[in-house]
Amino acid sequence: MTVQVAHLTLDPPVFLAPLAGITDRPFRDLVSRFGAGLVVSEMVASQEMVQAKPGVRERAELGFGEATTSVQLAGREAHWMAEAARQVEASGATLIDINMGCPAKKVTSASGAGASGSALMKDLDHALTLIEAVVDAVDIPVTLKTRLGWDDDMLNAPELARRAEDAGVQMITIHGRTRCQFYKGHADWAAIAAVKDVVTVPVIANGDITDSAKARTAIEASGADGVMVGRGAQGKPWLLAQIAAELFGAPAPEVPTGAALCEVVQGHYEAMLSFYGAELGLRVARKHLGWFMDGVGTGTVLRRQVLTSRDAAEVLAFLPDALADQSNNNTKEEAA
Ligand SMILES: Cc1cc2nc3c(=O)[nH]c(=O)nc-3n(C[C@H](O)[C@H](O)[C@H](O)COP(=O)(O)O)c2cc1C
Repeated sequence: MTVQVAHLTLDPPVFLAPLAGITDRPFRDLVSRFGAGLVVSEMVASQEMVQAKPGVRERAELGFGEATTSVQLAGREAHWMAEAARQVEASGATLIDINMGCPAKKVTSASGAGASGSALMKDLDHALTLIEAVVDAVDIPVTLKTRLGWDDDMLNAPELARRAEDAGVQMITIHGRTRCQFYKGHADWAAIAAVKDVVTVPVIANGDITDSAKARTAIEASGADGVMVGRGAQGKPWLLAQIAAELFGAPAPEVPTGAALCEVVQGHYEAMLSFYGAELGLRVARKHLGWFMDGVGTGTVLRRQVLTSRDAAEVLAFLPDALADQSNNNTKEEAA
């Protein structure tokens, strides 16, 4: 099973979700090396991108790795979104995704970035003007990521999806929660079926997919053409490839442990340092190192050493112990 978006064949149909502050170029590269049909950039605020001078943030969002990369745009004004889309296309993007799902108050409130993200679900006519502006501005395919609706009384994802398809959107990802749920409760995969029923473009199910069994249930409940995984990939960049292997017959990834895991994490660490520069890289890397250590169950002493060191060479030197077998770490901690 693959997902076809215009001329692009997305294979396997297991995609990395956009996660602001996390799915930067180094992480997207890492996930795509294990295997993913698509990776999506962090959300890019359209107006800020068009107006801002080139900087670290921009590089983080617009770098392209080996996998098919979609650049996600957010915004509330058609002309900024269209201009951002043109710039993103000119910089080599193969796909643009429009964010109509972000629940953050600074994105949805009129006093913040202003009525963008999931707030657009409250005004579908306005949402459509943005979609049409982006689709008209570029030749590359445009996709949409949204939620089930604003709240339980406004479950209008099917209407938005149908109108978006009419406007030229070529794939729709649904996070199975309403905006007002933020990240609470459980994603409702069955509710995504109402979107699948009314469009012919591929529909991707998202929310709380953290293993192959959940991916299978999400696809069965929603009828979706593929899945998108976000938080489940934190500290487990091989998860998408595992899901692809178990559900879609893709080659099974080698899940690294011990020295092999250390090599992966050290490589990712160095990629972050070179991408962001030593000082910022050291700080950005900490959350990723924390997730990898969560997976191993690293003891508190080693964990603290790794996460508080201000010396990249020292962090690299701590990692073999920090990522080694847990019982080994505990012995070392007791001795320390
Ligand atoms: C820290 C964080 C940052 C996120 N950033 C974005 C974003 O930039 N754009 C977007 O469409 N969704 C964003 N999301 C939502 C995710 O893409 C995804 O829809 C949600 O986390 C549910 O999927 P999951 O349970 O697999 O993580 C973010 C979520 C989290 C937790």
